[in-house]
Amino acid sequence: MRKLLCLYIIALWAGAQPAIATRQVVLSTTVPRTQPITCPGYIASNVSKTGDGFVAELILAGPPCALYGMDIKRLKLDVRFDTKNRLHVHIKDADGQQFQIPDNVVSLDSGHGVRNASSNLRFDHLHDDLSGFGFRVLRGDQVIFDTVGHPLIFEDQYIEVTSNLPADANIYGMGESPDFLRRNPANTIKTLWNRGSPDLFQQNVYGSHSIYMELRDSQFHGAYLHNSHGMDIVLANSTIQYRVLGGTADFYFFGGPSALDVIDQYTELVGRPSRIPYWALGFHNCRYGYKSVYEVNDVIANYSKANIPLEVAWTDIDYMDRTRDFTFDPVNFPLAEMQKQLAYLHGRGQKMVLITDPAILYNSSYEVYARGHEQDVFIKNPDGSEFIGQVWPGYTVFPDWFALNTSSWWSGELRRYFDQLPIDGMWIDMNEAASFCTGSCGTGKPAGSTPPYPWTLDPQPPHRILDVNNTFLVPPYAIHNQEVELSDLTIETTAKHANGVSEYHVHNLYGHMESKATHDFLVNYRPNKRPFILSRSTFAGSGALVSHWTGDNSATWKDLHISIASAFDFGIFGIPMVGADICGFFGNTTEELCARWIELGAFYPFSRVHSALAYAPQEIYRWKTVAEAGRRALSVRYALLPYFYTSYQRSVENGWPVARPLLFEFSHVPAVVDNDRQLLVGDSILVSPVLVEGATSVSAFFPAGLWYDWYDYSVIKGTNNNVSLSAPLEHVNVHVRGGKIVPTQEPAMTTTDSRKNDFNLIIASDEHGAATGELYVDDGETFDTAARWVQFSYADKSLSIGQRSGQFKISQPLSKLVLLGVAGVSNVVVNGSSVHANFKAANGSTVITGLNIDLNVKSVITLK
Ligand code: NOJ
Repeated sequence: MRKLLCLYIIALWAGAQPAIATRQVVLSTTVPRTQPITCPGYIASNVSKTGDGFVAELILAGPPCALYGMDIKRLKLDVRFDTKNRLHVHIKDADGQQFQIPDNVVSLDSGHGVRNASSNLRFDHLHDDLSGFGFRVLRGDQVIFDTVGHPLIFEDQYIEVTSNLPADANIYGMGESPDFLRRNPANTIKTLWNRGSPDLFQQNVYGSHSIYMELRDSQFHGAYLHNSHGMDIVLANSTIQYRVLGGTADFYFFGGPSALDVIDQYTELVGRPSRIPYWALGFHNCRYGYKSVYEVNDVIANYSKANIPLEVAWTDIDYMDRTRDFTFDPVNFPLAEMQKQLAYLHGRGQKMVLITDPAILYNSSYEVYARGHEQDVFIKNPDGSEFIGQVWPGYTVFPDWFALNTSSWWSGELRRYFDQLPIDGMWIDMNEAASFCTGSCGTGKPAGSTPPYPWTLDPQPPHRILDVNNTFLVPPYAIHNQEVELSDLTIETTAKHANGVSEYHVHNLYGHMESKATHDFLVNYRPNKRPFILSRSTFAGSGALVSHWTGDNSATWKDLHISIASAFDFGIFGIPMVGADICGFFGNTTEELCARWIELGAFYPFSRVHSALAYAPQEIYRWKTVAEAGRRALSVRYALLPYFYTSYQRSVENGWPVARPLLFEFSHVPAVVDNDRQLLVGDSILVSPVLVEGATSVSAFFPAGLWYDWYDYSVIKGTNNNVSLSAPLEHVNVHVRGGKIVPTQEPAMTTTDSRKNDFNLIIASDEHGAATGELYVDDGETFDTAARWVQFSYADKSLSIGQRSGQFKISQPLSKLVLLGVAGVSNVVVNGSSVHANFKAANGSTVITGLNIDLNVKSVITLK
């Protein structure tokens, strides 16, 4: 009972009602999934070669099976070798009637087209007497996708594609869904239907990403289905099965062979992660429930009193006038005071981010609505009236990003808002899109009337009567959406967009399209400045526009653990700037949990503490131990800022995630296939957080090689096994990987001040006394900045500094070397000349200070 109550309350604060058992919904047309399937499949004919692939016709091989609709008789198969490691296989209806994602919504890279023979991938199509057409994708001799033996089912509202997997396959990706890193190959259903719900384990939540990667024989490959419809992706019986509510079977296959290669190939297709301002890597504070701007002022001051680096002060919907977008509460958050707060923050090198929701109060005296209505920018009911749901301010309409004027109207509203308060970044929330009621519940209600929040009503009103014969409302195949209806707590699937398309087809694109409109505004408003936008809902390719936080988690040890896998998932999805609400959103956190969470959260790429209304405040200065844990962990983060930024630039250029599982670097080590309890930042820094209540030690896995303790330089000789590490409450274990060189700067209270400090290098030598590393530097804020890539390599007691590219002038010298695993150094020679330096021996390592080395030129530094 307590648990139920808790779940209920949890859902309420998310702005989402839970699926209440008393609802009377008859889903009588939902056909249960039956096995075995007796569909006829298709026969391939008229196969003809093109320059970089081939095309064929697929004809239904027998009487339609009408499993969940009507089989489409004639299909087209289009195979193209896009790049050496990317194969595009598109099966579509010959008449071109099925909905496909418009190019201007998600623009995919078209590749350059390579000849079959020069691709690393191969495509074979085969015929099976029972199941008809099937295809195989091979990398060398290895079959990586294999539909042979499973009939293709292609109906207007149901497509099924099944591929064989090895027994106990290692599958990663597919979401968004809080889960362990390695998906259970015997029993996983990942449902892609964006949902503004709390982070409940294994359920579908805010975003849709169909990419998966498989690890087989130490190598990775991947597949992405480009389709915006609701779908289930099912792992069971040594197969992966896509059950999709429409569109086409538009697959891309990636040859890897490393995890980073697959993500590189995927993000080359859907879009590389956007460049972020350097400040975004600082520490962020947020809370839903600040009572006034003065309270936020106090929070800002308290961080600095506690000597904890606060980079960004966030304010939630509390700042708005009656939770209406683009307004300021005249009493508690008056604009003038907000302007003062912003000026104060800017004066200290700090930043401000505020929230905006897509839902617009339905009330013609609210000018934002009036202008939008005038310009016809809102989503419609099938009868042409505005679709009216319910969000924070009351009855609300929703921008239709497909409508002609929506972008310009949105930009206009944002411009007015930014002109008043030029905040540094935007937080776009509730964009699944979330609604508190189902259907157009505001239709027929007096404009401006304020409905009660549904959860304040007792008992729950009966659910509306559903037209079960409408297959957009109740599609024949019911995906495993964790609500009663597909349209629950979101825009109704029958609602219409300006281009004539029903919400049914494009629901999963809503947050992505809002992200695009918001991004477009910011790059126009501040030409040449990198926008920072945090979006709750995302789709394939959203990484090119926004960053992401993992939504409404809870202050539990389990959610602390799962946050690591969620960050890894978003690395795979091409959205590397990701983090969870530190200390937990719902529920009263505890001192111990919050201490452990900041120790981990200091290493999320996006590091923000956030909590929900009505729970105990949890700014990290509130407890002595949490404050100390925060100071220590954040001082490691801030020291590592140049390294974080360099890793992030690898994301921008190659898609490589910043937060990586050990698996991505050690794919040949079977023990790490499901390791989601440790986190690598880039390829060199291993964080082993405590995830268990009461623990003062942590059992951490160390791959073969040398690993140096961040704090005392002691070394662990990894042998592919677990090592017990001491972890008192205020301490997080951090190790530097032998063989790597990590650039750092002395930490300060802001990223701006940290950037002014000298550079240091941690040179972590491997068993052969060698190491390599890199540093990327630019101005950290503009698009057209000059940049510089510096390379480091160390061997035989000699460090070479090389210049890979770029003209950016690095003003700070390299003044300190931490030579891990090398003792007895007492002499430094820079480019042939002996220089003065100070030496300190520590745990078999040497710390050399007092140097003044220019990072803009090549150098050779001998250390004897
Ligand atoms: C839901 C978001 O997930 C949460 O972070 C936010 O605090 C609330 N909406 C209120 O805006």
